[in-house]
Amino acid sequence: MSISAETQPRIIVDHVSKWFSKRSTRSMKDAFIAAARRQPVRARQFHALKDVSFSIGEGESVAVMGLNGSGKSTTLKLVSGVLEPDSGRVLTRGKVAGLIEVGAGFHPDLTGRENVFLNAAILGMSEKETKERFDEIVAFSEIGDFIDQEVKHYSSGMFMRLAFSVAIHVELDVLLVDEVLSVGDAPFRAKCNAKLKELAARGVTMMVVSHSKGQVKELCTRGIVLSKGDVVFDGPIAEALEVLES
Ligand SMILES: Nc1ncnc2c1ncn2[C@@H]1O[C@H](COP(=O)(O)OP(=O)(O)O)[C@@H](O)[C@H]1O
Ligand SMILES: [Mg+2]
Repeated sequence: MSISAETQPRIIVDHVSKWFSKRSTRSMKDAFIAAARRQPVRARQFHALKDVSFSIGEGESVAVMGLNGSGKSTTLKLVSGVLEPDSGRVLTRGKVAGLIEVGAGFHPDLTGRENVFLNAAILGMSEKETKERFDEIVAFSEIGDFIDQEVKHYSSGMFMRLAFSVAIHVELDVLLVDEVLSVGDAPFRAKCNAKLKELAARGVTMMVVSHSKGQVKELCTRGIVLSKGDVVFDGPIAEALEVLES
Protein backbone atom coordinates (compact mmCIF):
# COMPACT_ATOMS: atom_id res chain seq x y z
CA MET A 1 0.00 0.00 0.00
CA SER A 2 1.31 3.44 -0.83
CA ILE A 3 2.11 5.87 1.95
CA SER A 4 -0.47 8.37 0.73
CA ALA A 5 -3.24 5.80 1.05
CA GLU A 6 -2.30 5.40 4.70
CA THR A 7 -2.32 9.08 5.59
CA GLN A 8 -5.07 10.25 7.87
CA PRO A 9 -8.03 12.13 6.49
CA ARG A 10 -8.06 15.92 6.78
CA ILE A 11 -11.80 16.13 7.27
CA ILE A 12 -14.26 13.64 8.73
CA VAL A 13 -17.97 14.41 8.77
CA ASP A 14 -19.55 11.60 10.73
CA HIS A 15 -23.36 11.18 10.77
CA VAL A 16 -23.94 14.90 11.04
CA SER A 17 -27.38 16.44 11.32
CA LYS A 18 -28.26 20.10 11.56
CA TRP A 19 -31.60 21.67 12.33
CA PHE A 20 -32.54 25.32 12.06
CA SER A 21 -35.49 26.88 13.75
CA LYS A 22 -37.70 28.24 11.03
CA ARG A 23 -38.72 31.83 11.31
CA SER A 24 -42.42 31.81 11.98
CA THR A 25 -44.41 33.34 9.15
CA ARG A 26 -47.72 32.05 10.50
CA SER A 27 -50.78 34.18 10.50
CA MET A 28 -52.67 34.85 13.72
CA LYS A 29 -55.18 32.20 12.68
CA ASP A 30 -52.48 29.57 12.06
CA ALA A 31 -50.81 30.46 15.34
CA PHE A 32 -54.11 30.04 17.13
CA ILE A 33 -54.76 26.65 15.52
CA ALA A 34 -51.25 25.46 16.31
CA ALA A 35 -51.66 26.54 19.93
CA ALA A 36 -55.06 24.88 20.15
CA ARG A 37 -53.58 21.65 18.79
CA ARG A 38 -50.65 22.02 21.20
CA GLN A 39 -48.18 21.49 18.35
CA PRO A 40 -44.68 21.25 19.76
CA VAL A 41 -42.16 23.98 18.96
CA ARG A 42 -39.94 21.20 17.57
CA ALA A 43 -42.30 20.95 14.58
CA ARG A 44 -41.08 24.37 13.48
CA GLN A 45 -37.55 23.07 13.12
CA PHE A 46 -36.09 22.60 9.68
CA HIS A 47 -33.80 19.64 9.01
CA ALA A 48 -31.04 21.23 6.93
CA LEU A 49 -28.56 18.33 6.99
CA LYS A 50 -29.68 14.74 7.43
CA ASP A 51 -27.15 12.25 8.73
CA VAL A 52 -24.39 13.38 6.40
CA SER A 53 -21.15 11.40 6.36
CA PHE A 54 -18.01 11.71 4.27
CA SER A 55 -14.28 11.82 4.69
CA ILE A 56 -11.79 13.92 2.74
CA GLY A 57 -8.19 12.86 2.41
CA GLU A 58 -5.06 14.96 2.48
CA GLY A 59 -4.67 16.99 -0.70
CA GLU A 60 -8.10 16.20 -2.13
CA SER A 61 -10.11 18.94 -3.86
CA VAL A 62 -13.80 18.31 -3.47
CA ALA A 63 -16.71 20.23 -4.94
CA VAL A 64 -19.86 20.44 -2.82
CA MET A 65 -22.78 20.69 -5.21
CA GLY A 66 -26.55 20.93 -5.20
CA LEU A 67 -29.45 23.28 -5.72
CA ASN A 68 -29.99 26.38 -3.61
CA GLY A 69 -30.97 25.38 -0.10
CA SER A 70 -29.54 21.86 -0.36
CA GLY A 71 -27.12 22.42 2.53
CA LYS A 72 -23.80 23.34 0.89
CA SER A 73 -23.05 26.42 2.99
CA THR A 74 -24.20 24.68 6.16
CA THR A 75 -21.77 21.84 5.42
CA LEU A 76 -18.85 24.23 4.96
CA LYS A 77 -19.75 26.17 8.10
CA LEU A 78 -19.78 22.94 10.09
CA VAL A 79 -16.35 22.00 8.75
CA SER A 80 -14.99 25.47 9.52
CA GLY A 81 -16.43 25.36 13.03
CA VAL A 82 -18.68 28.38 12.54
CA LEU A 83 -21.62 26.03 13.23
CA GLU A 84 -21.86 23.05 15.59
CA PRO A 85 -23.63 19.85 14.55
CA ASP A 86 -26.80 18.95 16.46
CA SER A 87 -25.83 15.32 16.20
CA GLY A 88 -22.81 13.50 14.84
CA ARG A 89 -19.34 14.97 14.77
CA VAL A 90 -16.96 16.89 12.55
CA LEU A 91 -13.23 16.34 12.82
CA THR A 92 -10.55 18.32 11.03
CA ARG A 93 -6.79 17.99 11.08
CA GLY A 94 -4.47 20.94 10.48
CA LYS A 95 -5.11 24.60 9.96
CA VAL A 96 -8.46 25.36 8.35
CA ALA A 97 -9.18 28.67 6.60
CA GLY A 98 -12.59 29.47 5.22
CA LEU A 99 -13.84 31.93 2.65
CA ILE A 100 -17.42 31.36 3.51
CA GLU A 101 -19.25 34.63 3.85
CA VAL A 102 -17.99 37.74 2.19
CA GLY A 103 -16.44 39.92 4.84
CA ALA A 104 -16.93 37.47 7.71
CA GLY A 105 -14.19 38.18 10.22
CA PHE A 106 -13.72 41.71 8.91
CA HIS A 107 -14.36 44.56 11.28
CA PRO A 108 -16.09 47.47 9.50
CA ASP A 109 -14.54 50.22 11.62
CA LEU A 110 -10.99 49.03 11.11
CA THR A 111 -8.92 49.84 8.05
CA GLY A 112 -7.99 47.25 5.47
CA ARG A 113 -4.49 47.17 6.93
CA GLU A 114 -5.76 46.57 10.47
CA ASN A 115 -8.12 43.88 9.22
CA VAL A 116 -5.27 42.09 7.45
CA PHE A 117 -3.38 41.86 10.75
CA LEU A 118 -6.51 40.87 12.66
CA ASN A 119 -7.49 38.16 10.18
CA ALA A 120 -3.98 36.83 9.81
CA ALA A 121 -3.79 36.56 13.62
CA ILE A 122 -7.12 34.69 13.69
CA LEU A 123 -5.67 32.32 11.09
CA GLY A 124 -2.67 31.75 13.35
CA MET A 125 -0.05 34.00 11.77
CA SER A 126 2.36 35.96 13.95
CA GLU A 127 2.70 39.72 13.55
CA LYS A 128 6.20 39.24 12.15
CA GLU A 129 4.99 36.77 9.52
CA THR A 130 2.14 39.06 8.57
CA LYS A 131 4.52 42.02 8.20
CA GLU A 132 6.73 39.94 5.93
CA ARG A 133 3.81 39.00 3.69
CA PHE A 134 1.83 42.22 3.97
CA ASP A 135 2.96 43.79 0.68
CA GLU A 136 2.26 40.57 -1.18
CA ILE A 137 -1.21 40.32 0.39
CA VAL A 138 -2.09 43.89 -0.62
CA ALA A 139 -0.61 43.48 -4.10
CA PHE A 140 -2.64 40.35 -4.77
CA SER A 141 -5.84 42.00 -3.54
CA GLU A 142 -5.37 45.01 -5.88
CA ILE A 143 -6.79 47.18 -3.10
CA GLY A 144 -4.09 49.79 -3.58
CA ASP A 145 -4.36 52.95 -1.50
CA PHE A 146 -7.73 51.85 -0.12
CA ILE A 147 -5.78 49.62 2.28
CA ASP A 148 -5.75 52.49 4.80
CA GLN A 149 -9.48 53.19 4.51
CA GLU A 150 -12.04 51.70 6.88
CA VAL A 151 -13.45 48.60 5.24
CA LYS A 152 -17.03 49.81 5.72
CA HIS A 153 -16.31 51.97 2.67
CA TYR A 154 -15.30 48.94 0.60
CA SER A 155 -17.49 47.30 -2.03
CA SER A 156 -18.26 43.61 -1.53
CA GLY A 157 -15.79 42.86 -4.31
CA MET A 158 -13.00 44.72 -2.50
CA PHE A 159 -13.86 42.93 0.75
CA MET A 160 -13.69 39.62 -0.98
CA ARG A 161 -10.40 40.34 -2.71
CA LEU A 162 -8.71 41.28 0.53
CA ALA A 163 -10.19 38.36 2.50
CA PHE A 164 -9.18 35.94 -0.24
CA SER A 165 -5.70 37.38 -0.35
CA VAL A 166 -5.18 37.01 3.40
CA ALA A 167 -6.48 33.43 3.39
CA ILE A 168 -4.21 32.25 0.59
CA HIS A 169 -1.11 33.86 2.05
CA VAL A 170 -1.28 32.07 5.39
CA GLU A 171 0.07 28.58 5.88
CA LEU A 172 -2.98 26.38 5.71
CA ASP A 173 -3.88 22.73 5.33
CA VAL A 174 -7.55 23.04 4.44
CA LEU A 175 -9.23 25.80 2.44
CA LEU A 176 -13.01 26.15 2.28
CA VAL A 177 -14.40 28.32 -0.51
CA ASP A 178 -18.11 29.09 -0.70
CA GLU A 179 -19.22 30.84 -3.90
CA VAL A 180 -17.22 33.93 -3.02
CA LEU A 181 -15.28 33.62 -6.23
CA SER A 182 -18.17 34.92 -8.24
CA VAL A 183 -17.28 38.36 -6.90
CA GLY A 184 -14.80 40.46 -8.79
CA ASP A 185 -14.06 40.90 -12.44
CA ALA A 186 -12.94 38.21 -14.88
CA PRO A 187 -9.18 38.90 -14.63
CA PHE A 188 -9.31 38.75 -10.84
CA ARG A 189 -11.32 35.52 -10.94
CA ALA A 190 -8.74 34.02 -13.29
CA LYS A 191 -5.99 35.04 -10.88
CA CYS A 192 -7.86 33.43 -7.96
CA ASN A 193 -8.40 30.23 -9.92
CA ALA A 194 -4.72 30.05 -10.78
CA LYS A 195 -3.88 30.56 -7.11
CA LEU A 196 -6.31 27.86 -6.00
CA LYS A 197 -4.77 25.44 -8.50
CA GLU A 198 -1.33 26.29 -7.16
CA LEU A 199 -2.51 25.59 -3.58
CA ALA A 200 -4.09 22.29 -4.68
CA ALA A 201 -0.84 21.32 -6.40
CA ARG A 202 0.98 22.08 -3.15
CA GLY A 203 -1.26 19.59 -1.36
CA VAL A 204 -3.76 21.90 0.30
CA THR A 205 -7.06 20.12 0.88
CA MET A 206 -10.06 21.99 -0.52
CA MET A 207 -13.82 22.07 -0.35
CA VAL A 208 -15.29 24.30 -3.02
CA VAL A 209 -18.81 25.53 -3.68
CA SER A 210 -19.05 27.15 -7.08
CA HIS A 211 -21.71 27.66 -9.70
CA SER A 212 -19.07 27.56 -12.41
CA LYS A 213 -18.93 24.11 -13.96
CA GLY A 214 -15.66 25.04 -15.61
CA GLN A 215 -14.04 26.03 -12.34
CA VAL A 216 -15.26 22.92 -10.56
CA LYS A 217 -14.00 20.64 -13.34
CA GLU A 218 -10.62 22.32 -13.41
CA LEU A 219 -10.10 22.34 -9.69
CA CYS A 220 -11.87 19.31 -8.22
CA THR A 221 -11.51 15.59 -8.79
CA ARG A 222 -14.42 14.62 -6.61
CA GLY A 223 -17.95 15.91 -6.16
CA ILE A 224 -20.37 15.53 -3.29
CA VAL A 225 -23.93 16.23 -4.42
CA LEU A 226 -26.46 17.31 -1.80
CA SER A 227 -30.21 17.31 -2.19
CA LYS A 228 -32.42 18.66 0.60
CA GLY A 229 -29.75 17.88 3.18
CA ASP A 230 -28.95 14.36 1.93
CA VAL A 231 -25.79 13.21 0.17
CA VAL A 232 -27.16 11.79 -3.08
CA PHE A 233 -23.81 11.25 -4.79
CA ASP A 234 -20.16 11.18 -3.78
CA GLY A 235 -17.63 10.29 -6.43
CA PRO A 236 -15.70 11.41 -9.53
CA ILE A 237 -16.39 14.99 -10.55
CA ALA A 238 -17.58 14.14 -14.08
CA GLU A 239 -20.24 11.81 -12.70
CA ALA A 240 -21.21 14.29 -10.01
CA LEU A 241 -21.86 16.90 -12.69
CA GLU A 242 -24.04 14.39 -14.55
CA VAL A 243 -26.02 13.65 -11.40
CA LEU A 244 -26.48 17.37 -10.89
CA GLU A 245 -27.88 17.81 -14.40
CA SER A 246 -30.17 14.80 -14.29
N1 LIG B 1 -29.14 30.38 10.02
C1 LIG B 1 -30.19 29.77 9.46
N2 LIG B 1 -31.42 29.84 10.02
C2 LIG B 1 -32.47 29.19 9.46
N3 LIG B 1 -32.40 28.46 8.35
C3 LIG B 1 -31.20 28.35 7.73
C4 LIG B 1 -30.03 29.00 8.26
N4 LIG B 1 -28.99 28.71 7.44
C5 LIG B 1 -29.49 27.93 6.46
N5 LIG B 1 -30.81 27.71 6.64
C6 LIG B 1 -31.67 26.87 5.78
O1 LIG B 1 -31.05 25.61 5.60
C7 LIG B 1 -31.15 25.17 4.26
C8 LIG B 1 -29.76 24.93 3.70
O2 LIG B 1 -29.13 26.19 3.57
P1 LIG B 1 -27.67 26.36 2.95
O3 LIG B 1 -26.74 25.42 3.60
O4 LIG B 1 -27.35 27.80 3.02
O5 LIG B 1 -27.93 25.91 1.44
P2 LIG B 1 -27.05 26.16 0.13
O6 LIG B 1 -25.76 26.78 0.53
O7 LIG B 1 -26.91 24.81 -0.51
O8 LIG B 1 -27.87 27.07 -0.74
C9 LIG B 1 -31.93 26.24 3.52
O9 LIG B 1 -33.28 25.84 3.46
C10 LIG B 1 -31.79 27.46 4.38
O10 LIG B 1 -32.91 28.31 4.28
MG1 LIG C 1 -24.88 28.59 0.07
